[in-house]
Amino acid sequence: MLRSAMAGLLCLLLWLGVCAAADLTKLEWSDCGSDSGLTIHKIDISPMPVVVPGDLHLTINASSTRKQLNQMKLSVHVKRDTFLLNIPIPCLFHVGSCTYDDTCTLLATMQKENWAGIMGDIGLQIQQMLASVGITTYCPAVVQSIDLQDYVLKMPAVPSILSWFAEGNYEATATAVDTATGEQMLCLNVKLTVKEKKEPCTGWLCGRRRRSQH
Ligand SMILES: *[C@@H]1O[C@H](CO)[C@@H](O)[C@H](O)[C@H]1NC(C)=O
Repeated sequence: MLRSAMAGLLCLLLWLGVCAAADLTKLEWSDCGSDSGLTIHKIDISPMPVVVPGDLHLTINASSTRKQLNQMKLSVHVKRDTFLLNIPIPCLFHVGSCTYDDTCTLLATMQKENWAGIMGDIGLQIQQMLASVGITTYCPAVVQSIDLQDYVLKMPAVPSILSWFAEGNYEATATAVDTATGEQMLCLNVKLTVKEKKEPCTGWLCGRRRRSQH
């Protein structure tokens, strides 16, 4: 008892490393209460652990018997799983445990505002991914089925302003609620592991730092 309390304290202090829970080798996911008209048959992400920066291969097989999807509010909750503790990740620069009020304009806003300096490109990639399965309007979105096999998304390096999202094990829950009717349309829970590929510092900030030393 005392020993585990001490270990918990150490984990708080050390944050990562010795405290990290075991890496996942496969995406774990569950449907936590989507509308009966929406069925997720399969979701997979490879490689697992996800490596950033790097290519993420996304497989989604889902179908809908709904005629259309209208404006929704999307809420995301992210926790980092460590050996003893689940640490809630905050919403920083619109990334993390955030609520997005309007799914109609979300991808456009991401691209226009380029949250955290990375979300513009991710928004564009998601828009292109949806276009590849014929989804080009979002309100209403007419979706009968989505069948993506190993769709490649280029994941950026984690910017230092988001250092909360260092490597580790994460659990994320996303829920989407129809704005007009209040119905929960989608609820998806995923668990995944993220690893960072350490690269030599090459950005303009490194150059500036080097120059300022001379
Ligand atoms: C997608 O799921 C449906 C329903 O389970 C299935 O009939 C179909 O073969 C799946 N497609 C692929 C590519 O796995």
